[in-house]
Amino acid sequence: MYFDVAPKERKEDFYNREKELGGFLEAIDLREPLIIVYGIRRIGKSSLVRVALNELQQPFILIDVREIYFRANTITDQYLVESIVNNFVKHMKWYERIGFNIKEALKRIKKIRVRDYEIEIEPSSRIPLTLLLSEINSWCEKHGLHFILVLDEAQYLRYSNTRYDGIISWAIDNLEHITIVLTGSEVGVLRDFLRIEDPKAPLFGRYRREIYLDRFNSIQSQEFLKRGFKQLGLEISEEEISDTINLLDGIVGWLTYYGYYRGIRRMRHKEALNKVFQEGSKFILEELERIIAPSKRRYLAILKAIALGLTRWSEIKAYVTAKTGYINDKRFTELLKKLVKYGYIAKINNEYHIIDPVVRETCRKAKI
Ligand SMILES: Nc1ncnc2c1ncn2[C@@H]1O[C@H](COP(=O)(O)OP(=O)(O)OP(=O)(O)O)[C@@H](O)[C@H]1O
Ligand SMILES: [Mg+2]
Repeated sequence: MYFDVAPKERKEDFYNREKELGGFLEAIDLREPLIIVYGIRRIGKSSLVRVALNELQQPFILIDVREIYFRANTITDQYLVESIVNNFVKHMKWYERIGFNIKEALKRIKKIRVRDYEIEIEPSSRIPLTLLLSEINSWCEKHGLHFILVLDEAQYLRYSNTRYDGIISWAIDNLEHITIVLTGSEVGVLRDFLRIEDPKAPLFGRYRREIYLDRFNSIQSQEFLKRGFKQLGLEISEEEISDTINLLDGIVGWLTYYGYYRGIRRMRHKEALNKVFQEGSKFILEELERIIAPSKRRYLAILKAIALGLTRWSEIKAYVTAKTGYINDKRFTELLKKLVKYGYIAKINNEYHIIDPVVRETCRKAKI
């Protein structure tokens, strides 16, 4: 079913993305060391990775780095180690079934004890992530398996004393039987964090498979909605479909929410659309808050200016100055760039735009 709002796991619930899925599976097949999945929020990154992993039936761990960050405010080595170990415990039977023997793989790590369906880490001991990964790699080498480590929303790894770009590049160089998959919504932030283009950075020049998830075009969006409603035995009028696409564009996350309210909760068309904007605004304001907190009024003024249709640097600056007072050029450009990095606005041919229609509407209504 397309209109389930949780990230998808099964290919039959996952519309299209054949090319991206193919690229991902090919990279794994070729045992490439690093895959990066980029794309704005709610575009289907987590779903793509989960569906691909489900197709593969190879041992993997998926760590939601954003979730750890929101829970703990920092990403220590230990959180990642615990996350891996907890995943092993939770899915022990599955690992067994696909031939990955956790007990054997971890047996050389003294501070971890694996019992039948339980794993214990010696209290207050520190197990380096590098050691855990090395052991997994060695075991896979011996048994002809390949392991996949997914760090979902990897840009949050920057909130740490550990230099994860160094660890990732070490893994790429030394752990041939592990592929690392990174995903990121804050595309510019992830690029900054990885510093792939910086000759002084550990990941510089490393080969990686980049998979970019774009919005659906209008034909794909239509097909997605029609098929989704068909799965529910509903036929929705062409007008409703085109109205929805006009308002929500090809962002699959919003289309899925619309389908959920319209098709599963059986709301009327307008009501379902309003609900998407209403609920969406809540998420967006919460997410934005974190980024714009240090200079909230100015950031909001920038976003509002763009949401109102101003596209040029000078027009936006004039609006911001009128609303929030004098700001020097350098500082203004910094704020603008930060919003681009975080994916809230895009710079296309020297014009600034808000890509996501729900973000646009939220910012248009924002009180400064
Ligand atoms: N190709 C697809 N077919 C059907 N549903 C999809 C597809 N891609 C994504 N979805 C749905 O869209 C929503 C967003 O997907 P997902 O959480 O995978 O995106 P994301 O890019 O990881 O988002 P976030 O940035 O919030 O982490 C979910 O409800 C998911 O079920
Ligand atoms: Mg996600």
